Amino acid sequence: MANPLVLITGCSSGIGLAIAVMLARDEMRRYYVIGTMRDLKRKDKLVEAVGDAYGKTLSLLTLDVCSDESVKQCVDSIKDRHIDILINNAGVGLVGPVEGLGMDDMMKVFQTNFFGAVCMIKEVMPDMKRRRSGHIIVISSAMGLQGVAFNDVYSASKFAIEGFCESLAVQLLKFNITMSMIEPGPVHTEFEMKMFADVSKKEYVGTDPETLHHFRTCYLPSAANIFQGLGQTPEDIAKVRNHVTDLARCPTFFNIVVVFVACRLPNVPKWLFPNSPFNNKTLNKS
Ligand SMILES: NC(=O)c1ccc[n+]([C@@H]2O[C@H](COP(=O)([O-])OP(=O)(O)OC[C@H]3O[C@@H](n4cnc5c(N)ncnc54)[C@H](OP(=O)(O)O)[C@@H]3O)[C@@H](O)[C@H]2O)c1
Repeated sequence: MANPLVLITGCSSGIGLAIAVMLARDEMRRYYVIGTMRDLKRKDKLVEAVGDAYGKTLSLLTLDVCSDESVKQCVDSIKDRHIDILINNAGVGLVGPVEGLGMDDMMKVFQTNFFGAVCMIKEVMPDMKRRRSGHIIVISSAMGLQGVAFNDVYSASKFAIEGFCESLAVQLLKFNITMSMIEPGPVHTEFEMKMFADVSKKEYVGTDPETLHHFRTCYLPSAANIFQGLGQTPEDIAKVRNHVTDLARCPTFFNIVVVFVACRLPNVPKWLFPNSPFNNKTLNKS
């Protein structure tokens, strides 16, 4: 039997890149990886990291999860459209007080994190069903299990994909297709840099001074503190994914523990994690 073909979205940086490298460099050469990114001009970091596996166990394709056409073209270009493992990793973040964010920014988050993953699954799943085999993995977030202040829209997009996958997973069992969710806590990637860069540019016009004060003087330092104190590496997440693929019959995987521990860090306001078992304070009380 040929090695399972793994397609990963969003491989230009961070978690997607780390997973692609780990699978393509697997000592037992168990996988053939198609690393995808929306702009192949950003391929250098991946090509360098994967070294001599490039062209042997890894090849690259263009794929923008926000474009139906790009998704279809990419999948059509794969021999027999045969994908054994789909890893939906591409994602974008958004933080800030809701009233100060543009609807366009919010829609982009849903377009990428929710509809992007749905579009991929919709394109790949019918072939998996026909073959009665496949594994769909989604890089969700701990924020897909618990809302976090000032991450309202990002968190909602991850809750949405959690609900979608949870519903679909049951139907797919009949077809011998496994669905797994990975819910990382904070990870040091470009995601974090993009978030802080975006915040420094935005003025959050329309936000009342009290909320803006909470955001700038409580949330942002706390978020930096959490990333600094608890940030995992993309390689840590890639190792979790390895575990998920090895245990392909395990339908869900929760990695939320890291976020719960965050609530115990000094200087982290407890209202950031309203439902944490370690916290029973509310925003008003803190
Ligand atoms: N970092 C964290 O703390 C953290 C925590 C929990 C969950 N996650 C999730 O982990 C996943 C990966 O994030 P990361 O931390 O590795 O961040 P990252 O380094 O910013 O990587 C995100 C990747 O998604 C790609 N992407 C964005 N929009 C896309 C689109 N329309 N089509 C295809 N690719 C697109 C980016 O490509 P470009 O280079 O073209 O922008 C990039 O390759 C995301 O789903 C994120 O929500 C991250």
